[in-house]
Amino acid sequence: MRKTIKNAKIVLGVSAGIAVYKAVEILRLLVKEGADVRVVMSANASKFVTPLTFEALSGNPVYHSLFDSHNSAQMEHIRVAENADLLVVAPATASMLGKMAHGLADDALSNLHLAFKGSVLVAPAMNDGMWEHPAVKKNIDILRSRGVDFVDPAFGELACGVTGPGRLAEPSAILDKVRSYFNQRDDLNGIRFLITAGPTHEPLDPVRYLSNPSSGKMGYAVAEQAKARGAKVVLISGPTYLKAPPGVDIKTCKRADEMNVLVQEHLDHCDVLVMSAAVGDFAPQTLEKEKIKKQGDAGLVLKMVPTKDILLEVAKRNSGKLVVGFAAESQNIVESALEKLKKKNLDLIVANDISAPGIGFQSDSNQVTIIDREEKIENIPLKPKREIADLLLDRILVRLKNPK
Ligand code: CTP
Repeated sequence: MRKTIKNAKIVLGVSAGIAVYKAVEILRLLVKEGADVRVVMSANASKFVTPLTFEALSGNPVYHSLFDSHNSAQMEHIRVAENADLLVVAPATASMLGKMAHGLADDALSNLHLAFKGSVLVAPAMNDGMWEHPAVKKNIDILRSRGVDFVDPAFGELACGVTGPGRLAEPSAILDKVRSYFNQRDDLNGIRFLITAGPTHEPLDPVRYLSNPSSGKMGYAVAEQAKARGAKVVLISGPTYLKAPPGVDIKTCKRADEMNVLVQEHLDHCDVLVMSAAVGDFAPQTLEKEKIKKQGDAGLVLKMVPTKDILLEVAKRNSGKLVVGFAAESQNIVESALEKLKKKNLDLIVANDISAPGIGFQSDSNQVTIIDREEKIENIPLKPKREIADLLLDRILVRLKNPK
């Protein structure tokens, strides 16, 4: 029987930090899905939220100390570890990542981690300087190389008052990732996807570039879901903070013209092209070798030239591939998207309103309109990007099965 989240046994490992309050919400979401959740806390986590809160919400005992439990807590940890399907460590502090990477076991959570043989998902949370420290990066590399999966922290306001990367990912994003371990389909088995994601950088000089706020999250979600459903995925990514989904073949680039070369190179080897990258339309005509200096009060006039339109280049090749475009619009969403669909000879276009707050660029959720070649319009309400990705993959699959 395929395991579903409804009958899953999940251990939620909570390590210390201000983000512990979000672990309460993660627990609530998991319980709501029907999972049987056991909470294990590191020694200091209970200073932020008491074990009683987790106990009440999970309906199970909480393990938080190696020494003070009634019946040998350590043995109990081992039993919990043996029975669980997934260990989710959220929030994971820099210290907990270090312990996990190096096999230390000096509290209930690090003990359980060592005894656990199943899949491990980690959602780190820390100060931006710590997140970018080479020691932390190295520990994350070690864990990744062991197959540990991550929900990377978000960019935003941190407990220390600064804004940067390090904020625990939203509980809904962590739940999405947990869901992906269960209820798996393999309906895209053998289908080859070429997916682009993220912004492009068009340099002016060695220290400056023109870009846009695309985070790449939508394209990465499509790549991750396609892979999870059995597809073979090549992901061409502009510069982003995101980590390549496991099993996806990633090619990175910076400039629009570099992305074009990669797409044209890989096009013959795919069945479906999904162009979700926010490709820069213009690049500076000249790239200065040296940093452009201020000239007193004088402004700077830039001469820009158009970049190659990658989808138009694909259309010219008449490749016979199923091609999906995206349309970032701030007005006349459907009309403008329809125009692009026709001009770029697309099978599907996914339009989103970039002027609406809380959706589109940077956000974990999106609200889109999918339009097909036959001009059928489907409005998709606000959903996590992962769910939008799955929905889009469903539409792609229908078209692959019934070519028009
Ligand atoms: N696109 C592309 N090459 C470009 C620019 C965009 O292939 N140089 C693709 C995008 O990846 C997207 C689609 O074209 O799938 C529409 O992109 P969008 O930026 O919405 O529209 P543009 O065609 O650039 O037109 P405009 O910016 O004028 O709306």
